[in-house]
Amino acid sequence: MFHLQSPDHTRMLGAPLLRSHWTMNPRIDSWSGRRVWVIGASTGIGAETARMLLAFGARVALSSRQADALQEVAAGHRDARVLPLDVTRHEQVLAARDLLVSEWQGIDLVLIVAGAYSDMRVDNFDMAVVDRLIDVNLRGVFHCIDAALPVVLRTPGSGIGIVSSVAGFSGLPRTLAYGPTKAALINLAESLYFDLHPRGNSVYLINPGFVSTQATATNDFDMPGLISAPEAAGYIVRGIERGSFHIRFPRNFTNWLRVGRVLPYRWYFWLTHKVTGL
Ligand SMILES: NC(=O)c1ccc[n+]([C@@H]2O[C@H](COP(=O)([O-])OP(=O)(O)OC[C@H]3O[C@@H](n4cnc5c(N)ncnc54)[C@H](OP(=O)(O)O)[C@@H]3O)[C@@H](O)[C@H]2O)c1
Repeated sequence: MFHLQSPDHTRMLGAPLLRSHWTMNPRIDSWSGRRVWVIGASTGIGAETARMLLAFGARVALSSRQADALQEVAAGHRDARVLPLDVTRHEQVLAARDLLVSEWQGIDLVLIVAGAYSDMRVDNFDMAVVDRLIDVNLRGVFHCIDAALPVVLRTPGSGIGIVSSVAGFSGLPRTLAYGPTKAALINLAESLYFDLHPRGNSVYLINPGFVSTQATATNDFDMPGLISAPEAAGYIVRGIERGSFHIRFPRNFTNWLRVGRVLPYRWYFWLTHKVTGL
């Protein structure tokens, strides 16, 4: 289990009250027995996050299309439950939710990791790829939100985490289809926070930088700040334990992209072109 440090200023003031106001979601001290549904758990970031949560004692339901790969992640864990589904199939997501709730009587955290990636510029613009990315990354996530909300709203202290991407911060070269789907997820998580936080439910917006997974394996450029999937899982789990709303990593790389978001466009386009050569 990760033990988290309080921010220095709260330790200095020694004020538990200030600390509880400082975090945007309640802290989690133990995963033991927590009921977590990881959607997109067969490979990469989702699989490693599910493994880590199982190792920390959570009860984890694993969903995505590849049942065999999900079984591999679940192997040897009594508290793992495999529920194959395709997020683009609304009825499959709802049926998996119903099955899980009938077994668990509630869900404490729904972690939506499922996503598809494809790079695109104007010279390889392809509407079929655009449709696929919108179906998986956006419509699919809305299907998961639709399934999660009724359970979350009646389960005190429960929450929803959405994996977006730093590619959603601002427009970037090569992300003509992927970037807009991820920008929409950032907006979705922010909007959800307004509604769920006052009711005592948590929302986590998770924005990874480059992570070495099958999704990025075909990238033919240097990926700055590249980290492994287990490292990404560590950032996600620690961020949730800490009660962060915005869980982004690695910090040094994502800081630059955050600055880009507030620059005047003239500077932003010039700087991004200089850095990427695109
Ligand atoms: N790798 C990076 O650098 C990076 C950076 C920023 C954000 N992200 C985001 O992180 C998330 C995980 O990506 P990853 O890098 O770990 O890639 P990955 O290994 O390809 O994982 C993608 C996951 O999504 C699931 N998935 C895809 N389509 C699905 C569908 N229609 N229904 C249900 N599940 C589906 C896959 O499972 P099945 O194939 O079994 O369905 C798999 O578990 C994605 O949302 C991605 O956009 C990744």
